[in-house]
Formats: sequence, structure tokens, C-alpha cells
Amino acid sequence: MNEAILLTENEVKGILEKDASGHDWHHIDRVRKLALHIGRKEGINDLHIIELSALLHDVSDDKLQPSYMRGQELLESILDQLNLHQIDKSKIKSIIDSVSFKGGNQKPLSSIEAKIVRDADRLDAIGAIGIARTFAYGGSKGQSLYNPELSVRKNMTLEEYRNGESSSIHHFYEKLLTLKDSMCTNTGREIAEERHTYMEGFLKQFFNEWNGHQ
Ligand code: NI
Repeated sequence: MNEAILLTENEVKGILEKDASGHDWHHIDRVRKLALHIGRKEGINDLHIIELSALLHDVSDDKLQPSYMRGQELLESILDQLNLHQIDKSKIKSIIDSVSFKGGNQKPLSSIEAKIVRDADRLDAIGAIGIARTFAYGGSKGQSLYNPELSVRKNMTLEEYRNGESSSIHHFYEKLLTLKDSMCTNTGREIAEERHTYMEGFLKQFFNEWNGHQ
């Protein structure tokens, strides 16, 4: 059991070590811890699948890999080293598949484990960490902190979501403030509530300062 976790940790660290888009190893580690926390709270006995899925959830992401196929191959090659039962392997792949946000285009969730890992991943996109990640990611894409001339985009295609012009503050309205209502577990909802309120406070202060109010 632990051997598979250790091996996965090492593989993932190697792949994501130099990522500057907010999907670095520390993101993975936070999602893993949060997923385990939610799993325990939700009464899941076997947390092994949850932990492996959380560790691997960004490895095959086509934002981070040159192509979808390359990402799948990479994921497959790690899973092959873990001596898993075929059924567990398929379960992990289906969990990872349902985690991705992709402009709000939702995939149906296959299992309680998928709900937990997705909640954990989305929770790491909100709150104080979410704010920090948003500006780091925006900076890596050359986006401004805020551009009052742009409008908030709704119902985007994946293409528009990834490549359209936006600002970091817009990202709160286009994605982050919608995540609270997409939680699938009660534990996820409780944590999201608190982080959501924190972001609202941040935005209020941001606009006060933007507008020159004291
Ligand atoms: Ni992630």
C-alpha cells in the first residue's frame, strides 16, 4: 500500500516540479490532504484509491501536457508500475477524468471517491490559496490584475475559457465564485462556504482600494 503511494509521489513530483501555473507539487499535496480529510468525514473506509487519485489528478491534464494522448500515456505508465487490480486502475482513471473543470462543462460523477477528489481539487482553487493561485496563474499568462474594460464571460466554450482575454479579477466571477455551488459532499460544502466568504471579503477590499476609497 504505502509503496504505491511513495512511488506515485516521486513520479508526480518529477513531472510537476517546475510547473508555475498553480499545479505544482504543493497543490497536489494539499488536494491529497484535503481529499483524505473529506473522505474520513464522509465515512469512507478505504482511502487508498482516493489518495492515489488525488496524487495523480493533474498528471494527464492537457493544460500541462503537450497533448491529451501524451497525458494519458504518462498516467498509464505510472499506473502500470503500481501493481493495482484492473478494477482499481479503471476506477482511478475514471475519477481523474471527472475532476477536470474545463470551462464549467461538467462530466457526470462516477463514484463517491470522484466526488471527494473533485471537491478537494476545487476547494484548493478558492479561499486564500485560491486567490494566490489566481494571480500567479494570471501572471504566467501575461494577464492584468484587473481590466475594467472587459466584461465577465458566461457559458464559454473550452476554447474561449482557455484562450479568451480576461483578467485575474474576472476569473473570480467566471469561475471561483461559482465553485461553492458545485460541491458534491457535505464536508466540501462546509469548507467551501468559509472560503467563499473569505474571497468575497477580498474582492470588496480590492474594489475599495481600486476606486481610491480609504
Ligand atoms: Ni488540480
